[in-house]
This record gives sequence, C-alpha cells and structure tokens, in this order.
Amino acid sequence: MDAVAGAERMPSAVSQTREPLVYRHSLTVRVTHWVFALAFFVLVMSGLQIFNASPNLDASDKSDPARRVLSIGAQQLPDGKTAGVTTIFGHAFTTTHVLGYTSDGMSGEAERAFPGWITWPGYQDLAGGRRWHLFFAWIMILCGTAYFIGGITRKDVGLIVLRPSDVPKLLPMQLYYLRLRREPPPHGKYNPLQKAAYTSVLFVFAPLMVISGLALSPGVDAIAHPLTTLLGGRQFARLWHFVATVALVGFFGIHITLVLSTGVFNNLRSMVTGEYRLGAHDGNGV
Ligand code: HEM
Repeated sequence: MDAVAGAERMPSAVSQTREPLVYRHSLTVRVTHWVFALAFFVLVMSGLQIFNASPNLDASDKSDPARRVLSIGAQQLPDGKTAGVTTIFGHAFTTTHVLGYTSDGMSGEAERAFPGWITWPGYQDLAGGRRWHLFFAWIMILCGTAYFIGGITRKDVGLIVLRPSDVPKLLPMQLYYLRLRREPPPHGKYNPLQKAAYTSVLFVFAPLMVISGLALSPGVDAIAHPLTTLLGGRQFARLWHFVATVALVGFFGIHITLVLSTGVFNNLRSMVTGEYRLGAHDGNGV
C-alpha cells in the first residue's frame, strides 16, 4: 500500500472542508532527511575550507595550468589595492570582496578563495576542515545507506525514480510551476520534476560525490588506485567532486524554492510529524 493512499485512513477533524491529512514520510525518511541537511551544510562549508588551501581545479591527472578550469585568486592593482579574480575556462572576472580577496573569518579581509562566512571553520584551518569533512562524510554515507535500506524495505524507492512515461509530463509540470498552465499533469506521490531532480541526485550526483570523495582520500587511493585512475587521477577527482558539489547546491536551491512555493508549514510538518495535507498540486495516487 502506498504512503499517500495508505494514510487516508486518518482524515483530519476538518476533512469535510479541507483536503485530508495523509501520512507522507516514514520515520526513517524524516530522521535521515534532517541528518542529511546538517551533514550537507557541514560538508559544503568544510569542503570549501579544503578548497581554499589549493584554489585551482584542473582537468588533468596532475596540477596543470594549461588545463585549468577554475582558479580563484588575488591580484595586486597599480594603486596598491588588492583585487579578487575568479577565472573560469580562461575568462577572468573581478570578484573582490566576494571571492579571491574576501572575508578572512576573523573580521578582516585577506587573499582567500571563499569567504569566511561560507567555510567551516571560518578562519583558514585546513586540518580542522579535513577533520569535519571526513567525519560528516561518513555520517552522510551511513545516512544514505539507512535511507536506501528503509526505502527498499518499504518498496517506495521506486516512487522517486523518473520513468520514460514521466518524460512527456516534464514540460507541462514546469509550465504549471510557472503558472502558465492551470492544472498539473496527473502524477503520483512525486511529480515528474521532483522525480527528475531526485533521480539525478540519488543515482548520479550523490554516487559521484562518494566515489570522487573516496578517490581523493590518500588511504583509499593507496589501496584502490584504479578508482582514482577511472576518474582521471586525483586532480580530476577534485574536479568531479566540485562538479557534484555545484549540482547538489543547485538541487538544494531548487528544493528550498519548491518547499517555499508549495506551503512552508505543510511541508515542514510533513518532515517533522510525517503528516501532510494534500493540495491542488499533489497527485492522488502513485
Ligand atoms: C554533500 C556532500 C559533500 C560535499 C558538498 C563535498 C564537498 C567537498 C569539497 C568542495 C571539497 C574540496 C575539494 C578540493 O578542493 O580538493 C571536498 C574535499 C574532499 N572530500 Fe568532499 N564533499 C562531500 C562529500 C564527501 C564524501 C561523501 C566523501 C567521502 C567519501 C568526501 C571526501 C572528501 C575528501 C577525501 C576530500 C579531500 C580532502 C583533502 O584534500 O584532505 N566528501 N569535498
């Protein structure tokens, strides 16, 4: 029995006038969701702390300025001031006070790729960043494993997978979100755009994150070097890890936008108590 239909056994007291409350998220999903959220923040921030120690990414198996994809640094100006400069595929942008020459996490400014307010720890501390990162990386891996085992046991991992029959519904769903269409296309617990996002995160970017993270670890590299080779070497593994970071941060932005635009209270309640009130944009079945 699916979570939505199964939960219609518990209509709310005001179900005569309002849509029913349904039991939408199991305890495992709710707990892993919030642990994930915490781990994600720490991993992004400590990851950027680590990046600051070597603020270049090269599409190569070794450090190679000729194959530089991203570099964030500082430049001395003729007037004696310092400018932050971000270079992407050879195109340089002035990013003073934001990237390159920015907050040092100690109330001042310094030559630094990412600012103190977005790194963990805020001040420059590579060893501290590594310790936080690796600790929360394992928390995230354990949490992901628990989520999958829970989902497979409840047989509902399949609900979030994008299927060929969902593809024609992607555009109508986007038009609905843009308010260019009155009704969403028929769908189950998750709409086709949600499925596309969850599928790419769970089956592409999260595995890429873990695999490239493992390849970056000197210990794993020593015992499973073919993994690092598969990713194009350690420098390339850094690039993959960073690409996955950008994708997951993008997903996080879209996720928050959707949560805000489809009812903050209802969505938050569903991730705390599990109860969700069905709305106009929700599907009726699975
Ligand atoms: C959402 C999850 C994660 C995010 C956002 C993230 C982000 C980052 C970033 C931005 C870096 C800096 C890359 C560099 O400049 O070298 C980094 C480094 C690293 N990450 Fe992650 N990461 C995540 C998950 C993981 C996981 C799951 C693992 C382990 C399997 C991992 C292992 C590592 C390692 C070993 C390094 C290099 C540490 C070092 O140089 O000492 N990360 N991560």
